Amino acid sequence: MFILAAAGSAVGLGNIWKFPYMAGENGGGAFILVYLACIFLIGIPIMMAEVLMGRETRQSPINTMRQLVKLSGASPAWTMIGWMGVAAGFLILSFYGVIAGWSLYYLFEVSAGTFQGTTGEAASAAFDGLLADPLLMIGLQTAFMAVTIFIVARGVSGGLELAIRWFMPLLLLLLLVLLGYSLTSGGLAEGLDFMFSFHPERLGVEGVLDAMGQAFFTLSLGMGAIMAYGAYVPSNASITSTIFTIALLDTFVAVAAGLVIFPLVFANGLNPAEGPGLMFVTLPLAFGQMPFGAIFGGVFFLLVSFAALTSAISLTEPALAWLVEDYNAKRGRVAVTLGVISWALGLGTVFSFNIWADVQIFFGKNFFDTVDFLANNTLLPLGGMLIALFVGWVLPKSTVVGQLGFDGGRYALWQVLSRFVAPAGVLVVFVYTVISTV
Ligand code: PHE
Repeated sequence: MFILAAAGSAVGLGNIWKFPYMAGENGGGAFILVYLACIFLIGIPIMMAEVLMGRETRQSPINTMRQLVKLSGASPAWTMIGWMGVAAGFLILSFYGVIAGWSLYYLFEVSAGTFQGTTGEAASAAFDGLLADPLLMIGLQTAFMAVTIFIVARGVSGGLELAIRWFMPLLLLLLLVLLGYSLTSGGLAEGLDFMFSFHPERLGVEGVLDAMGQAFFTLSLGMGAIMAYGAYVPSNASITSTIFTIALLDTFVAVAAGLVIFPLVFANGLNPAEGPGLMFVTLPLAFGQMPFGAIFGGVFFLLVSFAALTSAISLTEPALAWLVEDYNAKRGRVAVTLGVISWALGLGTVFSFNIWADVQIFFGKNFFDTVDFLANNTLLPLGGMLIALFVGWVLPKSTVVGQLGFDGGRYALWQVLSRFVAPAGVLVVFVYTVISTV
């Protein structure tokens, strides 16, 4: 169950929507290489750290930090990890609801056959039309957030777990169907070249920060979601093998989404650096041209919406679990409050695509780009770095070894990654970015 829930949290819009467009904006190959390095050298050790912390205390991230600080006689300042996570959860959920709303829109439009026989230009125009309509976007965002709140309020129960069990294999299957179509679209060679040939000159400093931020985002790391779920992992389960399973599945879905999208981009003369609209233009185009496209497309966007839902649920878990623990608050009330705050914050993202498109908030970034930067490029990596440092240097070795279930050479390797490699990686990228922006 933990594997399913954590995989449900990890696999989401980050894989299917965000990864391809970020790779596209950052020139492809070199970005993907840096991203993969971040997943394996930084992401996986930190994911293991989050699970072992949560399983040790079996509490919400904030109280986990409080208890582990006491256990190790460390400064209470470390509790900041928990608070930063709650803040990041709000920020991410705010824009997540908006983008998931887009996927609901495509669920309706594609299955209604609107895109049958469409062209690249028409698909782009349809997406632009959606962005230009704030009321429609708010309606869709509201619908998605309402479902999220409803499920969170009821408790993550059997129904959802059942859904994850079915939709994940189905999602993979449909990605393969799409892949089959994309392979014959005529853009395969260019797509593969874009994704896998190494062009460091196209990457740039911000691209490296983006790759690292995306690694954290896609694995749901650095904000306590995995720590909160870790509280439910049975004591006899192996942390290493479960985390590897989840990380590999997550990476597979992202790369498969890229393999579907980029050949279509080149076959249809679209722009890989198109930005957040990339998947919403290429996929309706593909569905519009394949036999039974309305059915395949409808099912596909339904699955994407489900993937988004299981991720959105996990975004509320750190704050929710803490409020329920400390104030004995009612799940339902907390869920509605958290949801309404994120929804309201999300309006800023809705307007960033139309009436506030040119309003700059931070270093020339509009509202959405600012929230995105703050959460994914700042709070998540920083949170992850602090988690790695805490587990690597502060937590007693006996606790860590007891949770991981191995010592000796494997422990030494894990310790080097969490003491040095992960924190140093985050730090180097940060310093680099600050220097280059100032
Ligand atoms: N991992 C999710 C995705 O890829 C997003 C997420 C981030 C969920 C952080 C929870 C916590 O879509």
